[in-house]
Amino acid sequence: MMTTVLLTGAAGYIASHTWLALQKAGYRVVGVDNFSNSSPVVLERLKELAAAPIEFERADVCDPAAMDEIFSTHRPAAVVHFAAYKAVGESVSQPLAYYRNNLGGLVNTCEAMRRHGCLRMVFSSSATVYGAPEKLPLREDAPTSATNPYGATKLMGEQILRDVGVAESAWQTACLRYFNPVGAHESGRIGEDPRGTPNNLMPYVAQVAVGRREKLSVFGNDYPTPDGTGVRDYIHVSDLAEGHVAALRRLLDTAGSLTVNLGTGRGYSVLDLVRAYEAASGRKVPYEIVARRPGDVAACWADPTLARELLGWEARLDLARMCEDSWRWQHLNPQGFN
Ligand code: NAD
Ligand code: WQD
Repeated sequence: MMTTVLLTGAAGYIASHTWLALQKAGYRVVGVDNFSNSSPVVLERLKELAAAPIEFERADVCDPAAMDEIFSTHRPAAVVHFAAYKAVGESVSQPLAYYRNNLGGLVNTCEAMRRHGCLRMVFSSSATVYGAPEKLPLREDAPTSATNPYGATKLMGEQILRDVGVAESAWQTACLRYFNPVGAHESGRIGEDPRGTPNNLMPYVAQVAVGRREKLSVFGNDYPTPDGTGVRDYIHVSDLAEGHVAALRRLLDTAGSLTVNLGTGRGYSVLDLVRAYEAASGRKVPYEIVARRPGDVAACWADPTLARELLGWEARLDLARMCEDSWRWQHLNPQGFN
């Protein structure tokens, strides 16, 4: 019999790619989303890419009755929990909305899981839990801290999962600390479609390249990095999706819980990324240097060793490929899913 996996936030950027990877690996996937930050068009695209029916429930993960109904109907063996709000700046101005949705949604999902005897969760955490890194590359045992409410929801989310595991040892959880997910499915049919002005670098660069925005603002060139601009560990969303398949497989095969980085182990600067995007797209990406963005760190990249050891997973796709796939998505869908 096929193992059923419940994917929350399923219509979102990372989950939609993970959906395809899980189906390809032989899992039955049931998606849940309330479209608070995504479009139902994603489901049409997934149907076409999977060349198979897809199962989806429109619901809010904060709604206990709706989650009960979904667990009774589909009887998942595990949950991959993506559903959350993710804009750092917005979390500072609307902290309560972030705590309610990200932590309320997590607790409610775990309670439904418990009621239905489903005790395996893969959780979307973030490299943001490392705060301002003291030492690079970042290993999973590095100190953690939160510098904004969004980060606090990830740190607390990990803590909640550790605590339920202590209380009931049958729980198995995998906290996956993503570095900077970018790129798109190689088909160009699904990708990242931020609402309003993009907060993150690659979607902003993509919109400049396609002509939706005039120029990129580079947030500071006086960091202690090789070219003065911020350095990050960009990871292709398709590699990230495979990381979830590997983590799920591990929870199903092997006792215990884990917390691992999903990154490449390589850092690139803002200007490295701009140059790579220009090469991939054949378009100019004009930019100007502006002030630092409050809360940004100079540099952040992963030590990906533990994921290789525990999951047998490592990132394969390089920055050029991340930019090529982002560009294919962006120029085939200049207005995203609209
Ligand atoms: P996304 O916004 O594209 O996807 C999240 C999805 O969850 C959206 O489709 C949204 O509609 C849905 N959702 C939100 N609240 C919901 C609720 N209460 N009920 C049902 N659905 C709900 O974001 P993403 O980039 O795909 O991120 C997925 C997860 O990964 C999030 O938990 C995010 O915090 C985490 N993460 C993202 C990044 C990144 O840079 N993209 C980095 C680290 C961690
Ligand atoms: C990357 C670099 C910016 C935009 C954020 C969250 C983090 C995680 C991933 C969820 C930095 C620079 C950016 C722009 C720029 N999300 N930049 N001009 O800040 O590493 O991480 O997304 O968990 O929690 O904080 O990613 O893409 O915003 O920035 O110069 O218009 O690009 O200063 O150096 P970040 P990012």
